[in-house]
Amino acid sequence: MALPVVDTEYLKEIDKARRHLRALIAYKNCAPIMLRLAWHDAGTYDARTKTGGPTGSIRNEEEYSHGANAGLKIALDFCEDVKSKCPRITYADLYQLAGVVAVEVTGGPTIDFVPGRKDSRVSPNEGRLPDANQGPPHLRDIFYRMGLSDKDIVALSGAHTLVISISAWIYIQGQLGMCNHTCYIFILVSREGHTRKDLDLMVLGLRNPLSLIIPILSSC
Ligand code: HEM
Repeated sequence: MALPVVDTEYLKEIDKARRHLRALIAYKNCAPIMLRLAWHDAGTYDARTKTGGPTGSIRNEEEYSHGANAGLKIALDFCEDVKSKCPRITYADLYQLAGVVAVEVTGGPTIDFVPGRKDSRVSPNEGRLPDANQGPPHLRDIFYRMGLSDKDIVALSGAHTLVISISAWIYIQGQLGMCNHTCYIFILVSREGHTRKDLDLMVLGLRNPLSLIIPILSSC
């Protein structure tokens, strides 16, 4: 797929927004909620109809009031602070950039950011994000709809290692199941047969997964 084209002024705006986001996230200590905002804007994507996805539509009251988005108004308001300083950046890019910076600030790698998302005021219907009370079949429905795989579910669920008290999805020997985040990390680092490639897949797609695992292990 062709990448969106942006001009050099826009790229400068992205750099500026990145710096503001880094300072804001460090100052407010709000990396988890910023990452969750990025995910909830993007995670409504439907690959078949090409609707939903990272369009900034989560800023619509209609959408941030969905049950799954409870609490995310806080992150939206934090982002407004950056938007006021970097008005050219689209909301769609701003929210994804916030997720990228959140991963970096919490010890993950520098992620190549591809700018150029367009904003939309059209919100998808409620119910496109995963429901934590349902099991693997539901999770597969949601992630397959986005064009993602079981391994993507596990890799992306690695985001929950930023949270103290949440369960995460694991995928072992063809089975998708749940465990708490400490057990999740333990399985990743101790299980025989895991190649480095598996680890890359299983922790948020980080290029250096140990950069996230080791600090967390030492704090458990
Ligand atoms: C696999 C399906 C998923 C389910 C069922 C799920 C469910 C949840 C739930 C119930 C919460 C707690 C919300 C609250 O505090 O009220 C949460 C938090 C969180 N989720 Fe997920 N999530 C999923 C996938 C993801 C993905 C793919 C990401 C990011 C790549 C993500 C990032 C986060 C983060 C960072 C938090 C913590 C937010 C905070 O502490 O403010 N989640 N998730």
